[in-house]
Amino acid sequence: MMTTMLKSFVPHMVPPQNLNFPNKHRHSSRIFVVSSLCNPNLARLVEQFNPKLPLEKAMTPPTSWYTDPAFFQLELDRVFYRGWQVVGSTEQIKKPLDFFTGRLGNVEFVVCQDENGKLHAFHNVCRHHASLLASGSGRKSCFVCPYHGWTYGLNGALLKANRIAGIQDFNVNEFGLKPINVATWGPFVLLNLDRENLLPEEFDSHNVAKEWLGSSSEILSTNGVHSSLSYLCRREYTIECNWKVFCDNYLDGGYHVPYAHKGLASGLNLDSYSITMFERVSIQSCQGSSGKSLENYDRVGTNAIYAFIYPNFMINRYGPWMDTNLVVPIGPNKCQAVFDYYLEHSLVDDKDFIERSLEDSERVQIEDIVLCEGVQKGLESPAYSVGRYAPTVEQAMHHFHCLLSENMRK
Ligand code: FES
Ligand SMILES: [Fe+2]
Repeated sequence: MMTTMLKSFVPHMVPPQNLNFPNKHRHSSRIFVVSSLCNPNLARLVEQFNPKLPLEKAMTPPTSWYTDPAFFQLELDRVFYRGWQVVGSTEQIKKPLDFFTGRLGNVEFVVCQDENGKLHAFHNVCRHHASLLASGSGRKSCFVCPYHGWTYGLNGALLKANRIAGIQDFNVNEFGLKPINVATWGPFVLLNLDRENLLPEEFDSHNVAKEWLGSSSEILSTNGVHSSLSYLCRREYTIECNWKVFCDNYLDGGYHVPYAHKGLASGLNLDSYSITMFERVSIQSCQGSSGKSLENYDRVGTNAIYAFIYPNFMINRYGPWMDTNLVVPIGPNKCQAVFDYYLEHSLVDDKDFIERSLEDSERVQIEDIVLCEGVQKGLESPAYSVGRYAPTVEQAMHHFHCLLSENMRK
């Protein structure tokens, strides 16, 4: 949720044209079929947005980027199956034997901490007949397939394959779970589905931060985005809109706040707004409104920052709170927004404050969901094809679209 109004644009912007997206061909991939733009219709769709036009003259991406199943499939291949992607919180795998499962595009994954405390991620697919192996989250000493009972260790090794007497040309060591590269930065768990096996130094959180956050990583750390906060809870929302509609709403520079979130707008000093853009990150920030009610002031604090990390992750740090929004693409017109809430440790027992803050946050999310679902319907109607940007407030949205355009072309 973008909550504030733009005052000034800080010209700290790295042109998206200079970016180096992880090259899919640098390492061979045994998992994914590389999409190509041989399909002339798809190539034409990608070309329909012109990232070279300045914001003042630019058109938004066409509706097909938000509705076309073929475009959505290409996005999975080019955007989500490459580079580091956030999939969860370190809270979910805090102790040995903790695990959680999830899905990104067509990729079913399980992340776990083995009995020695080592972090792993695997494709959550049994090597026998492809049943999904683990479900949900929790603690397990091994993964037992619900179909025929093949059993895997938390390090991925196949420990037991029932009733396979007589099988030939079968090497149990070759039938472990297929690994996925996994790393952490702060309280976030990231997967990299693109590469075979990374070199050990590439898992180093410094290197992950460099690739994932670029030059913004230090700013985020110094503004309180770190793992010393206490994890509080998760809220999930299934939204009937393309994942980018949610991102666009977040990135409109607070344009919609005075109209759509009247309650929230009163707690913010909308004149103090600023936007800074980095390679693949944009950070919007705003002061809390000191003249307003103590309740709002407490929740929002004196300074709020809202960081968007391409392609689908948002970190909101305000007052004693941090919440993160992960927008998981489900289909061309459906996504899931996963909100994780973190709080300064000294306040975790203040039940009234927590309840009030979460209620306020929930109200804003519901307001945003109504907006996003309305936009998706509008995008699907024949009346609309492309829109325009408000140049003084929607720079971060344009930056996002330019990044996506660059990413989709190679
Ligand atoms: S599919 Fe897992 S044991 Fe058969
Ligand atoms: Fe909003």
